[in-house]
Amino acid sequence: MTDTEIKKGLAGVVVDYTAVSKVNPETNSLLYRGYPVQELAATQSFEAVAYLLWHGELPTDVQLAQLRATERQYRALSPDVRAVIDHVPLDAHPMDEVRTAVSLIGAKDLAGSGSVMDAGGTADENLARSIRLFAALPAIVAYGQRRRRGLEPVESRDDLDYAANFLWLTFGKEADEVVVDAFNRSMILYAEHSFNASTFTARVVTSTLSDLYSAVVAAIGALKGPLHGGANEAVLHIFDEIGTASNVVPWLDTALAEKRKIMGFGHRVYKRGDSRVPTMKAALDTLVEHYDRPEVAELYDTLESEFVSRKGIYPNLDYPSGPAYNLIGFDTLTFTPLFVAARVTGWTAHIMEQASANALIRPLSEYNGPDERHIDGYVPDEAVLAAAERAEEAAG
Ligand SMILES: CC(C)(COP(=O)(O)OP(=O)(O)OC[C@H]1O[C@@H](n2cnc3c(N)ncnc32)[C@H](O)[C@@H]1OP(=O)(O)O)[C@@H](O)C(=O)NCCC(=O)NCCS
Repeated sequence: MTDTEIKKGLAGVVVDYTAVSKVNPETNSLLYRGYPVQELAATQSFEAVAYLLWHGELPTDVQLAQLRATERQYRALSPDVRAVIDHVPLDAHPMDEVRTAVSLIGAKDLAGSGSVMDAGGTADENLARSIRLFAALPAIVAYGQRRRRGLEPVESRDDLDYAANFLWLTFGKEADEVVVDAFNRSMILYAEHSFNASTFTARVVTSTLSDLYSAVVAAIGALKGPLHGGANEAVLHIFDEIGTASNVVPWLDTALAEKRKIMGFGHRVYKRGDSRVPTMKAALDTLVEHYDRPEVAELYDTLESEFVSRKGIYPNLDYPSGPAYNLIGFDTLTFTPLFVAARVTGWTAHIMEQASANALIRPLSEYNGPDERHIDGYVPDEAVLAAAERAEEAAG
């Protein structure tokens, strides 16, 4: 070994510039193209924020209307995408459905593009692909939840904007304004977060000059993990385990004694609190009031204050969004697919940024395996041989 400093998990490593968003853990702030995320969540539609992430500026009324018109064009799932989703076993994780559906949409769109180089796409082609995925994902996610509930799919409603239509597609009834608003905010808060694991994955794939769909499929795979996107559903499992606020203290005693990670808390970048949490918590509070479920807020607050006072580790966005999605009526397994539908905007903005100033991403490693050795004179180790024999016998 040399004395090269290993940055395990690339912690603290700055690998490139980005103009898409800025996370500042010192000031507890998150800016999308310069705008504080809480201002965007309070004033903008998710479509306008998608436009901002892709173009760098908020849309004019005309530009927003154009984006909405295009988004409506691509909402419907083609029968073959539905069929491929139907091939995914009902007990597979819905993230597998989403990954598979995006993969098919990409393959169909790129068919005939000839060489791998052609599939990389121009900036205009990649923007069109980004809008297409953004438009199709609500139907994919909603179809999955309805399929698992044994319900027929619902067709999109052209009179509804993105967030309201997403809820319509999922539940087959028009959502109340307060619910649409909370859901719209959550989508904006989940849209973008600089070089997180899934976005970095998308950038790595793009850096090889692969296509946008492949980069998004890879990002979905990265987001599936419980240390990343899978945490919001894990929060609900924890809430289910605990039951009521009065059980928090004994539950936490046991969980910490067993050295469990408490999902929904902690963050690689923010160490004094996640900038998105106050906005999402406010949205959760409106839902708690709307659905008259004060016990949810009580459990939330009790676990938060107990955990923060014991460990000094603060909630991340998944902590308030999990119970919010549960109140709206989403199944716990649908939470991470919802994250995909939101984050596809940030991923695609990064994919286009990476493609516009590309450098192949290829880090180094420090080798720590056996020293150089040679086949000539190789004598199998007795212990290794005996173990192999035992394994063969056991296998019959
Ligand atoms: C997000 C996360 C992976 C960040 O991890 P990280 O920056 O690599 O920090 P570490 O996992 O090394 O944690 C540092 C210390 O805090 C502890 N810690 C961090 N998050 C914790 C949590 N949620 N529950 C319990 N302990 C936690 C670790 O056990 C570790 O303790 P140690 O130093 O005694 O070993 C981590 O906080 C986590 O696993 N959180 C739960 C999953 C989650 O909510 N993910 C969504 C992120 S948006």
